[in-house]
Amino acid sequence: MAAPNSEIVPGPESLSPESHGAGPPGGVTGGGAAGWSDRFEEGLHPAIERFNASIGFDIELLQQDLDGSIAHATMLGSCGVITVAEAQQLVAGLEQVRQEAAAGDFRPGLEAEDVHFAVERRLIELLGPVGKTLHTGRSRNDQVGTDLRLWLRQKVDLIDGSLLRFERALLAQAEAQADTLIPGYTHLQRAQPVCLAHHLLAYVEMAERDRGRLRDLRHRLNTCPLGAAALAGTPVPIDRRQTAAALGFETVYANSLDAVSDRDFAVEFCAAASLIMVHLSRLAEEVILWASEEFAFIRLTDRCATGSSLMPQKKNPDVPELVRGKCGRVFGHLQGLLVMIKGLPLAYNKDFQEDKEALFDTVRTSLDCLEAMAILLEEGISFRPERLEAAVGSDFSNATDVADYLVTKGVPFREAYQLVGGLVKTCLKEGLLLRDLPLERWQQLHPAFDQAIYAAIAPRQVVAARRSEGGTGFDQVKLQLARTRSRLYG
Ligand code: ARG
Repeated sequence: MAAPNSEIVPGPESLSPESHGAGPPGGVTGGGAAGWSDRFEEGLHPAIERFNASIGFDIELLQQDLDGSIAHATMLGSCGVITVAEAQQLVAGLEQVRQEAAAGDFRPGLEAEDVHFAVERRLIELLGPVGKTLHTGRSRNDQVGTDLRLWLRQKVDLIDGSLLRFERALLAQAEAQADTLIPGYTHLQRAQPVCLAHHLLAYVEMAERDRGRLRDLRHRLNTCPLGAAALAGTPVPIDRRQTAAALGFETVYANSLDAVSDRDFAVEFCAAASLIMVHLSRLAEEVILWASEEFAFIRLTDRCATGSSLMPQKKNPDVPELVRGKCGRVFGHLQGLLVMIKGLPLAYNKDFQEDKEALFDTVRTSLDCLEAMAILLEEGISFRPERLEAAVGSDFSNATDVADYLVTKGVPFREAYQLVGGLVKTCLKEGLLLRDLPLERWQQLHPAFDQAIYAAIAPRQVVAARRSEGGTGFDQVKLQLARTRSRLYG
């Protein structure tokens, strides 16, 4: 998996004003002088220049911008809009920008405004007049939409891979704990014992749905807006299908206005990422509880736990706490996008520039959290079977099974339920567990009880009895483990 932190875009403070590639193409570099066209006479106010610029973060899209421009230039050549030789020059120039960037020599300044202008500007510097043909039949509006979709498509695949690693880590723990039981809860009150593997596999199911959502949205995301130009299409005889195919898109937008103003894919992605975070956070919360002295179901290994600066005895679950805490920003980005888009008239509006940081941070946070939780499962926790065993045997979570036992003897469930409720009340008063009651006491309650009741309420039997499809019975769990294994490794 790629280390997302290594891809963090430089903040504005790292922008170097003296670097090349600055300023809108055809404009004057440095000092914020006007550059869009000859319509402008005065330069931008420096604070407005800073306010308007996205280069501080959209440099993240550099590779995709180059890919998109290469496809566009090639298409212009094959459609006869420019000569094939000119197209080849453009492609070579764009590849040179890529090399400069790899060498750390492409550092556009604020006055470049955004990555699209920065690349074009540098191309013109490198190639002269030929460089000025690149933007034929294209606008930054369809260009930015193309770049963003290419970028996100790649990240969706990375996140899918991270989800798979997370699921495999869950499965490995589940397989290692195939015989371990854990109290099952409702309302965070002991309810019925379950297999620990069953509990862990529940999170695999959630992650599988997450992957399904990514698959669905990837399909819609994979539609090419390039060629919609500013909003209305272009009189230039372009071939949208050619660029779309070259960039690996499944299809093209049918409507140019929709093409440049659709950000549904960004919302869908942030919604899917929010659910990923919800799932990670719920597991994180359980890990935090389990590591507490009160539960003591797991130990945190030194690799993934942290100490306190003051209390020498502390070992803190910082990793799951951070995962839980990072949900806020991801949910916030989803909300931010929805609000940003909802009042926008067609077609492109500069508001859209705000979509990038939301997406970048959502991707980075999801990847970081998935990786951290996978590592936590792989080497950060160890279950304490003795504690889990003691926990499942020391409560009334087998009470339903007493009622079910009576049902097998022909007692209607509601009547059995009432009888057992009374029995639990007496036991609580006397400080006894159900398993401590002598047979006479059972038989006083109902003559249908016999010696078999003790086996029926032993935790292992309680679990084994839940044979219904998808239940926690050992046979069912074995089946679920095998299915999950072939799903994740097949
Ligand atoms: N930096 C802009 C963005 O992120 C690129 C598109 C600008 N288009 C325009 N018409 N000003 O959305």
